[in-house]
Amino acid sequence: LPEIFEMSNPARFDAGIAAAADSLRRGALVGMPTETVYGLAADASSGEAIAGIYSTKSRPRFNPLIIHDFSIEAAMGLGTFPPLARTLAEAFWPGPLTLVVPRRRSAAIADLATAGLDTIALRVPAHPVARALITAFGRPVAAPSANRSGHVSPTTAAHVATDLGDRVAVILDAGPTGIGVESTIVGLTDETPRLLRSGGVPRDAIEAAIGRPLAAPAEANAPVAPGMLRSHYAPAAHVRLNAETVRPGEALLAFGEPLPAGAEQAAATINLSRSGDLGEAAARLFSALRELDGTAATIAVAPIPDHGLGEAINDRLTRAAAPRG
Ligand code: TXA
Ligand code: MG
Repeated sequence: LPEIFEMSNPARFDAGIAAAADSLRRGALVGMPTETVYGLAADASSGEAIAGIYSTKSRPRFNPLIIHDFSIEAAMGLGTFPPLARTLAEAFWPGPLTLVVPRRRSAAIADLATAGLDTIALRVPAHPVARALITAFGRPVAAPSANRSGHVSPTTAAHVATDLGDRVAVILDAGPTGIGVESTIVGLTDETPRLLRSGGVPRDAIEAAIGRPLAAPAEANAPVAPGMLRSHYAPAAHVRLNAETVRPGEALLAFGEPLPAGAEQAAATINLSRSGDLGEAAARLFSALRELDGTAATIAVAPIPDHGLGEAINDRLTRAAAPRG
């Protein structure tokens, strides 16, 4: 079983970072908190360590991973940054943004981590524990979300332990993640900046920073991202979106007030945010799906506005509701 370090305890912080960095050096896997979701971290330069990520997650091998580094300068050394990429890095790093740029061949990144692509997904996380770990390790780490492939992403250390506990050496427990949905992914590999995945940085903030709209993914490379598979982030229960009424026996995932008609007969209810705050709702989304899963055969989801972080929330919910394949 993994060694779990309570990182809010100052007496455990350094020991946790040292044990996790040692594990990475040995090619083992670490449950790493970030401000979005917990990552399953491995040495990005080691093909064997990366193979461990894929087998642990049961992830299809052609899905490339996000490479996390501790500083903007370090991350920029791994890819080539056109002007718009530089603008976005300076505006949003460290933070919940991933940039896909042409890969620098000189970078010591295992081909398996980028799935053999000539592009690379880069992120500088803001979370102090992630930054301390990568700094102590001294090299970039590859980290997908620390859930089994197709499951809901983990926003607590307990979620990581439940999904992958027998496969990770160390889990750094920093409490629930602040943002709760994965990073926004922007593709900058042709002249057109593209929103590859909505996430922790809202679309309008990115468009304001670069002064132009984000395009949809190009057809040719759209299907490679598992976050872009139609059925993804799926609880076991059936998910019914935009529920204006709750049917008998359903669980209810609510947003704001008033609750949908019939809410009083729900098998269980979680309100993502009573005050209608989309940031609070994003932070609670994956925990709420895990909690409601198992309380009913169907989770009815109240309508959620599609602006700001609502775009990422609705994206994840739409995938959770998609036919399973
Ligand atoms: O918030 C996050 O982004 C979390 C934390 C741990 O950093 N990570 C995360 O990783 O969500 P993952 O592996 O679950 O999702 C990464 C996404 C996938 O959809 C993958 O296909 C896409 O990034 N991706 C990675 N490299 C890519 C590339 N070169 N081109 C296009 N998409 C890429
Ligand atoms: Mg994931």
